[in-house]
Amino acid sequence: MTDVRLDHRLVIVSNRLPVALRRDAQGRWEAEPGSGGLVTALAPVLRNRGGLWIGWPGVAQTEDMNLDGSLREAVRGSGFAFKPVPLTEVEVAGYYYGFANEILWPLFHDLQTRCNFDPGYWEVYRRVNRKFAKIVAAAIRDDDHIWVHDYHLMLVGNELHRLAIRQKIGYFLHIPFPPPDLFLKLPWRYEILNALLAYDIVGLQTHRDKRNFVQCVRSMRKDVAVRGKGRVVSAWVDHREVRIGNFPISIDFEEFSRKAGSFEVNRRVAEIRSDLGSDGRRQMLLLGVDRLDYTKGIPERLMALADALERFPDLRGRISLMQIVVPSRVNIPKYQDLKLDIERKVSEINGKYTRTDWLPIRYIFHSIDRTELVALYRSADIALITPLKDGMNLVAKEYCATHIDNDGVLILSEFAGAADQLHAHPLLVNPYDVREVAETINTACHMPPEEKRRRMKALRRIVRKSDIYWWVDAFLGTVFSHDLEAFSRIDEEVPHMAFPPRTGPHRPPL
Ligand code: G6P
Repeated sequence: MTDVRLDHRLVIVSNRLPVALRRDAQGRWEAEPGSGGLVTALAPVLRNRGGLWIGWPGVAQTEDMNLDGSLREAVRGSGFAFKPVPLTEVEVAGYYYGFANEILWPLFHDLQTRCNFDPGYWEVYRRVNRKFAKIVAAAIRDDDHIWVHDYHLMLVGNELHRLAIRQKIGYFLHIPFPPPDLFLKLPWRYEILNALLAYDIVGLQTHRDKRNFVQCVRSMRKDVAVRGKGRVVSAWVDHREVRIGNFPISIDFEEFSRKAGSFEVNRRVAEIRSDLGSDGRRQMLLLGVDRLDYTKGIPERLMALADALERFPDLRGRISLMQIVVPSRVNIPKYQDLKLDIERKVSEINGKYTRTDWLPIRYIFHSIDRTELVALYRSADIALITPLKDGMNLVAKEYCATHIDNDGVLILSEFAGAADQLHAHPLLVNPYDVREVAETINTACHMPPEEKRRRMKALRRIVRKSDIYWWVDAFLGTVFSHDLEAFSRIDEEVPHMAFPPRTGPHRPPL
């Protein structure tokens, strides 16, 4: 098997570059690191092997902006090259805020009632996808491996074909793919499905996403035959093969583990723990880390915490939630409303339960540096990761990677893509079921150390085995290798189950 990873230059095309431009206090443009699963996962890959990243720098083009100049500094430390795609204010409004964030994002997260199917957005979305394709076509070399990412750029493959680009193009969707019942609501469902079938491979996060996509292909394109079973199946579109596979995205496990054992993290962990009280009476730390997003289930989680404090009074004074919310999409009114809702709930709960020696919730609304994040992961007795729907959720994997002492309990939403892969080793919950989440918090607080150890060891084994480099190899191998069989056999440790069984004491297995 040739090493598809290293023989060719990798060209990543995504909506965002891994850095976003913003004005500093003096009004000059500076680059800051981006947030979100896509950037978190892909940055180490390109750092490791080099390549070119094509994307939007995060702000609308202004006259005083010198894109290449402002990005030069960021490029220097990154180990790969950037090619910015400039977007006008109108383009950002219609393509990013409009079509991507008011239509695709809510619909693909099963939140159809939040969609605004404004036809004007579609025109701009098409135009911007065409613009990306032109910039890609001008930047690539014949033997590059082109890899397009996420819901913002579903039409780019098709547009590249129109520009007579003939090399293979891979596509990966980082968010869930909805079932036909929801996808069929999309006014541009045929255009989008057909554009996806123009890629040589469509990669999805989970078995469920792949099944949903295949069902949409089967119900909307009777002329397309989908054959095969296993991780990768083939759709035959006008005698052309399109591979469809599920590849759960991951993290750089070794890097997180190493960092968790470093001197500076150990020092911070000792400080954080001492702030939580001395040994016998130390409060247990619960941790939530999320981008500001209504899909993350933060208000529901806060209500579950309140319910736990109400119904299990022995938890009062014994547990403390640190909720970190990383600002995101803050110009969108729904995200501003969400922020207010979270802040009102935090203040209500703190107002009701705080004592002189105990604060139930510590709330942070800014991003934190990596040392502090890893120290918080390691210090947290329980990670509370309860999205209403999530493509994968890398916070769950990062939490496991940093628990090098095999302690810590992961409470995970069954609607996070990670639940599909981590099987029954986390405590799985339905995030809409406030009562169940409250009971699970109580269960986690009383879990015997031996059980914690057993679960965390199993979790770490899975994340270690299917890390970000495994993901890249599995995906690129499936697109560019002739030996599809070999790559179909690449599998994670545990078999898939449509509904992983619950292991908490309160609910019978489903
Ligand atoms: C998710 C998406 C990414 C996106 C990120 C941050 O992880 O899959 O494509 O970049 O959210 O959202 P933003 O809108 O700020 O790029």
